[in-house]
Amino acid sequence: MTSRRDLIIEEMELGPVWRLRGTTGGAVAESGAAEASLEPPQSIPGVKNREGEPPLVAPDTAMDTGDRATQIARMAWPELKHAVASCDACALCKTRKNTVFGVGDERADWLLVGEAPGAEEDARGEPFVGQAGRLLDNMLAAIGLQRRAGVYIANVLKCRPPGNRNPEPEEVSRCSPHLIRQIELIRPKLIVAMGRFAAQTLLHSDASIASMRGRMFEYQGVPLVVTYHPAYLLRNMPDKAKAWEDLVFARRALRSLISGAAPAH
Ligand code: URA
Repeated sequence: MTSRRDLIIEEMELGPVWRLRGTTGGAVAESGAAEASLEPPQSIPGVKNREGEPPLVAPDTAMDTGDRATQIARMAWPELKHAVASCDACALCKTRKNTVFGVGDERADWLLVGEAPGAEEDARGEPFVGQAGRLLDNMLAAIGLQRRAGVYIANVLKCRPPGNRNPEPEEVSRCSPHLIRQIELIRPKLIVAMGRFAAQTLLHSDASIASMRGRMFEYQGVPLVVTYHPAYLLRNMPDKAKAWEDLVFARRALRSLISGAAPAH
């Protein structure tokens, strides 16, 4: 009988390459069963959860209210890039080498959102260029994507937290208007939230990644799927198979969205 893993390999057109990469053997685990504390489901035409349910919609709450967020919400790309490059809204501006705005196709269908720059990203000013970034590039390649071509990559925080510590709530609150504006300008067809900070920031939820995987959410009308952060996968190689599964799920959702609805731009 064809295993679930074989079906994923087939879907990703990876064939034996999947096996040679030495990803975990056996069936891919099902996502966790716990419920995310989110608003009731609504439907996006053509997009469904793995179980065939409609997507879950995040509450529409502002992360950083006030004049600053309102100003950022009106910016075009050049102003937004300048605002990030010169930002001093939190203490991370004192320790950063470079801001890390984001990279890719500004009209991308896919938007991948990570957490915050690490040391290499801080040094180079580009997201996901370290070890986690190399894994991310491989994962994208496995589903026929590459950074910059139909893909945009951004982080919740645009500056590196010293020592790669977790972002502080205040930093997320001060920085997230930049990400929100990027999403509005890109108008992607699909968002992939990689890791806890991206998922929790965009969905205003405390739910675990395990409980959110395999389900279709919505951020401001854009379908959103959740997966593990590549840096987590580097430390937990068995979960790589689950991340592949998430990307296949995302790709399938995007394909059905494109085939079932008129292009947004
Ligand atoms: N981890 C992230 O979340 N973002 C990066 O850009 C690099 C590592």
